[in-house]
Amino acid sequence: MEGKMKAAICTAYGPPEVLKVLEVPKPEPAAGELLVKVMASSVNSGDARIRGLRAPGLLKWVMRILFGFTKPRQPILGLMFSGVVVQAGKKAVHFKPGDEIFGSCGSKMGAHAQFAVVKDGGVLAKKPENASFEEAAALVFGGMTALYFLKKAGIQALQEPRVLIYGATGSVGTAAIEIAKYHGAQVTSVCSERGVDLAKSLGSDNIVLYTREDFRLLDEKFDIVFDAVGKTVKKDSTRILKKGGKYLSVGGMDVASEKAEQLRFLKTLFEEGKIKANIDKVYGLEDIVEAHRYVDSERKKGNVILKIAD
Ligand SMILES: NC(=O)c1ccc[n+]([C@@H]2O[C@H](COP(=O)([O-])OP(=O)(O)OC[C@H]3O[C@@H](n4cnc5c(N)ncnc54)[C@H](OP(=O)(O)O)[C@@H]3O)[C@@H](O)[C@H]2O)c1
Repeated sequence: MEGKMKAAICTAYGPPEVLKVLEVPKPEPAAGELLVKVMASSVNSGDARIRGLRAPGLLKWVMRILFGFTKPRQPILGLMFSGVVVQAGKKAVHFKPGDEIFGSCGSKMGAHAQFAVVKDGGVLAKKPENASFEEAAALVFGGMTALYFLKKAGIQALQEPRVLIYGATGSVGTAAIEIAKYHGAQVTSVCSERGVDLAKSLGSDNIVLYTREDFRLLDEKFDIVFDAVGKTVKKDSTRILKKGGKYLSVGGMDVASEKAEQLRFLKTLFEEGKIKANIDKVYGLEDIVEAHRYVDSERKKGNVILKIAD
């Protein structure tokens, strides 16, 4: 296996079955890059979206330009990971071999493999001291997205804000509950019966079951309505927003930025016990098709993790 590694290869855009676990050459880091032994990575809605080339209308063409016209030009998908640096390029200054890190590979992907090459100085940080590799990998996708949108809504400047999180039990939603609570919010979580225990365990003050009640008709008024699954439109929040309140959704054209400083913040929050890593299921790399099928179901609670090494 010298010079070789196992990786999940995306052979075409399509259903989960387009993914095949194969032996491929181990990547080599360039001068400003790091070779990382991937310990765990997440399979999230972003990975599934790229695999399935799922985007409305013209955005499909934007995806083809970004990721490849007929199939992903980087055949190893996988955006978020945790792992150990095993080799640093000559110009790498931020991390060194032996460092335990977590972060995002960005649009170059590659985390669904035993080794990945990432940019030194990219969206990376030292893994939280008290987190397992699976937990660290679970913090990245939802955590960075929730931080981006809640910050954009100005949560940090509000006193005891009232926040409604629609779709509170996915990767973004669970992180959003915890980050809103960290900011002193009164949180109303909109979820189904399947997610009540989880939403409560993360600190939700109120639960609205979307299967039984229409959140648009609530009597309470909110400072922030955050749709963490992209199933609503701005108009849905008209009646329940305070004057000057903000509606944000992951479903619009706004793409969450990914920054190393967000990871460092998530690391601190995790180490201080302010947030958890919400893991629903853990699969092996060999079970990549099953993992994608579960993510495609849109029912996962928190995060789905690939445990790639012990
Ligand atoms: N704009 C951006 O920058 C950005 C960044 C990250 C993610 N996203 C998008 O955000 C969306 C969510 O991502 P994610 O990974 O957090 O999702 P996810 O984990 O796959 O979401 C699954 C959860 O959503 C709940 N859910 C499904 N349908 C629902 C509905 N109609 N109403 C309320 N809850 C519902 C499910 O609960 P039940 O089983 O109880 O229904 C499940 O717990 C994806 O579409 C993703 O592409 C956008």
